[in-house]
Amino acid sequence: MSAMVRPNWEHVVPDLAGKTVVVVGGSGGVGEGVVRSLLARGSTVIATGRDSERLAALEESVGEERLRIAVIDANASDLDARVESLANELGPFDGVVVAVASWGDQGRRPVLTLTDEEWRSLLEANLTSVFRLYRAFLPVTAESGTILQLNGMSADMPFPGAAGVALSAAATKSLTRTIAAEQDGRGPRFYQVILGVVRTKERQRAGIDDTRWLDGEEIGAHVAALVAGTSPLLATTVQYFTDKKAGPQPGPEAF
Ligand SMILES: NC(=O)c1ccc[n+]([C@@H]2O[C@H](COP(=O)([O-])OP(=O)(O)OC[C@H]3O[C@@H](n4cnc5c(N)ncnc54)[C@H](OP(=O)(O)O)[C@@H]3O)[C@@H](O)[C@H]2O)c1
Repeated sequence: MSAMVRPNWEHVVPDLAGKTVVVVGGSGGVGEGVVRSLLARGSTVIATGRDSERLAALEESVGEERLRIAVIDANASDLDARVESLANELGPFDGVVVAVASWGDQGRRPVLTLTDEEWRSLLEANLTSVFRLYRAFLPVTAESGTILQLNGMSADMPFPGAAGVALSAAATKSLTRTIAAEQDGRGPRFYQVILGVVRTKERQRAGIDDTRWLDGEEIGAHVAALVAGTSPLLATTVQYFTDKKAGPQPGPEAF
């Protein structure tokens, strides 16, 4: 059993024994903490990413037999086949967490200097990827299951030099809200969880850290509560987790 990080707002520890949760981007800065937290609360976890070496390093560092890894590229033509094959082996899934991000190779640039190809590539990586993941995973998620995206504050704020990432964040927030409304209480519940800055290992390795920032494990504790059905935010599609002490909060109803 992995060591458990317990945030002060977690009054009940969700019991995920017997549940299976996929963390798409589980090898990423945010995803890794979520993976560890879900494992600590008893879940079987499938961590996915594109890079098999990054996934193998995660598997070795976590060292838990309930962790499985799988290479899945949200933009590849074999996405549906890979998801179906994973579901045949380990599904249906109780939770699917989408925690993907891609900054592209163009660097920080004013938006109107992007080429058509750079623009297309940023939208493919950050918007189309989320659409394709939702479409592939919906049929293999339990009726009572949870599908959510971990998103950033750029969903609501300007982000000079990173418009492709920011406008995709705003669009995936919109996408998630529309799917949640289309589901209308039938089948898996869809959530959009907008996060503040996270203390990722990559940042820490670069000497950039702040104890007021969120830990990935705290985010995972909230994800666990949504999957287990113990979160007070079960009926709230758009949620904000930006303040470590306050914990996850409901977004405004409409704006
Ligand atoms: N880091 C923060 O401080 C922070 C703060 C707020 C919100 N967030 C949000 O958290 C989410 C994850 O960000 P992160 O910082 O963890 O990013 P990250 O460290 O770059 O990790 C991204 C993960 O997504 C995977 N991935 C990327 N593109 C993919 C694709 N097309 N198909 C499948 N997997 C793909 C990567 O796998 P490979 O490496 O194998 O490609 C990696 O596992 C984003 O929505 C971001 O906005 C992050």
